[in-house]
Amino acid sequence: MLSKSMQEALNNQVKLEAASSHAYLAMASWCEIQPGLDSVADYFFQQSDEERVHMLKLMRFINERGGFALVPTLEQPIVTYKSLKNMFEEFLQHEIIVSNSINELVDLALREKDYATHNFLQWYVNEQIEEERSARILNDKLELIGEDKSGLYLFDRDIMSTRGRNSGKG
Ligand code: FEO
Repeated sequence: MLSKSMQEALNNQVKLEAASSHAYLAMASWCEIQPGLDSVADYFFQQSDEERVHMLKLMRFINERGGFALVPTLEQPIVTYKSLKNMFEEFLQHEIIVSNSINELVDLALREKDYATHNFLQWYVNEQIEEERSARILNDKLELIGEDKSGLYLFDRDIMSTRGRNSGKG
């Protein structure tokens, strides 16, 4: 059985994963209307789907453990970006926020001696290592490319193949 504080903390994480899904959906849509960024758009459509899976996994766990998973209210995310680089910086910052939040949950689970939740959260700890790594690699590539249009062309062409390699899932 989840404690009240753990249930609340997990529901906050549900909201953060849903907000991630929402934010990446907005990134996908923005990319889709930019010339030549079709694959980057696909990348974020997939990323958005994965964040929804992260959210669902948490919801099912909360309910399984005798809690009640709440469907969150979401604000509109950022919908336009001044540049692709700026958008990818936001992506990385967002993943860092998610990682910190997961770490806080792990800390709470240990403090409460809730070893079942601690065990469940290990999947998210590992996932965040991969997600942050992927976001950093893509940011580094964009830094290297700078204003070079042919580099950007290759970045878009190759981005989907980096999903499997960098993270296993994205
Ligand atoms: Fe589920 Fe990318 O955080």
